[in-house]
Amino acid sequence: ETVEWAAESYDMGGHDTYMHKEIAEQADAVDRVLRGRIDDRFATVHLGGLNLDAREARTMRRVKILGCGSAYHAGMIGAQLIEELARIPADAEPASEFRYRNAVVDPDTLYIAVSQSGETYDTLAAVQELKRKGARVLGVVNVVGSAIARETDGGVYVHAGPEVCVVSTKCFTNTAVAFGLLALHLGRIRDLSVADGKRIIAGLRKLPDQIAEVLRAEGEIEKLAADYAQAKSMMFVGRVRGYPVAREASLKLKEVSYIHAEAYPASELKHGPLALIEPAVPTVAILPDDDLLDKNRATLEEIKARSGRILAVAHQEQEKADHTIVVPRNEVELDPILMGIPLQLLAYHTALALGRDIDKPRNLAKSVTVE
Ligand code: AGP
Repeated sequence: ETVEWAAESYDMGGHDTYMHKEIAEQADAVDRVLRGRIDDRFATVHLGGLNLDAREARTMRRVKILGCGSAYHAGMIGAQLIEELARIPADAEPASEFRYRNAVVDPDTLYIAVSQSGETYDTLAAVQELKRKGARVLGVVNVVGSAIARETDGGVYVHAGPEVCVVSTKCFTNTAVAFGLLALHLGRIRDLSVADGKRIIAGLRKLPDQIAEVLRAEGEIEKLAADYAQAKSMMFVGRVRGYPVAREASLKLKEVSYIHAEAYPASELKHGPLALIEPAVPTVAILPDDDLLDKNRATLEEIKARSGRILAVAHQEQEKADHTIVVPRNEVELDPILMGIPLQLLAYHTALALGRDIDKPRNLAKSVTVE
C-alpha cells in the first residue's frame, strides 16, 4: 500500500491557505480512504495491511487507542465506533500520558497508535514501550513509511494525502473514517449482522457527497464567525457521540484563532463549568439526532437560562439555539464524522476575521518530534 504524492498535491490550488485547501479537499480524501476497500458481498471491508487474522479479531478482549492532539480525538471517535459496531470495550488515551504511567500491558488487548505524521515522539515512544512489553500494536497513520508505520505490526493507512497546515483537518476526518472501516471489519467478524454491515457501508458511501453539502454552508459559517470572533472564551459541549467532536472543535479554535475554549461532556456542565456561562462566553453544542437529543436540548435550556448564546450543530433547527448549522443525517454511528466539519470552517473563519497566521499558528509545529 504505497501512494506517491505528486508535486501538485502541495500546490495551494487557488486557496489562500493550506487549511482552507485541506478543508475543501475532504470529500475527495474520504473517497480515497474508502476506495477499493468495501466488500458488498460479505458486507464488510478489506484492509490490506492490517495483519490481524480473524481468530485474533475474535479473541481480543479490549482495544486501547493512543495518539496526541487531533489524533487522540479521532481515536476517541474510533473507540466509540469499535464499541458500537464490534462490541469490544475500547477507549482512547493521550499517548504521552500512557507512556509515562507504567500502564498494565494486557496480552488480550489490541493497541492502536494514531498519527498523521507517524513521527510524533510521544506516540512513537508509547509504541516502543508496548512492543518492548510484547503487546500487539497496530497503526492508523497517514504518512506511508513513517516511523510509527514502520514500528507497528500492521494497520490502516488513512490516505488523506499531504497535510501541510499545522492544524489537522482532512486527516482528522479521514482517520475517523478509517476507524469506521476498522470497526466494521471487526464487527463483521464478531456480532455485527449483514443488515447492519450494509447499513454502515451505505452510510460510508454517502459521506463524500454529504461533506460537499456541509462545505456549501461556508458563507453562512463565515458570517457567524465574524460574530464569534468577539468572544472572550467559548464552550464546546456534546454527549457521547458529540463529545469527541466538541473536543476537536475546541482544539481547532484554540490553535488557529487563539480564542480560549473549553470542551466538556454536556452532562458535566452543571458540575462546575456552568459558572462560566455569560453573554461573552458562547456555547457550541453538538446535537446529533440520536437517543440523547432530548437530554441535549435540556442542556440548551440550562445555558439559555444563564443568558448564554448558543450555536448548535444539529440535524434540524434547534429552537433554543441562537443559530443552528444543519448537517445532513447519516447513520447515527457515523454522525461525528460530519458534525466536525462545519466547526473546522468556524475555526478557520474566526481566525481569518482576527487576522491570524492560519497555516502557522504561534508556538506550534506540524509534528512534535521531541519530548
Ligand atoms: C492538530 O491540529 C494538532 N496540530 C496536533 O494536535 C496534532 O494532531 C498532534 O500533534 C499529533 O500529530 P500526529 O497526528 O502527526 O501524530
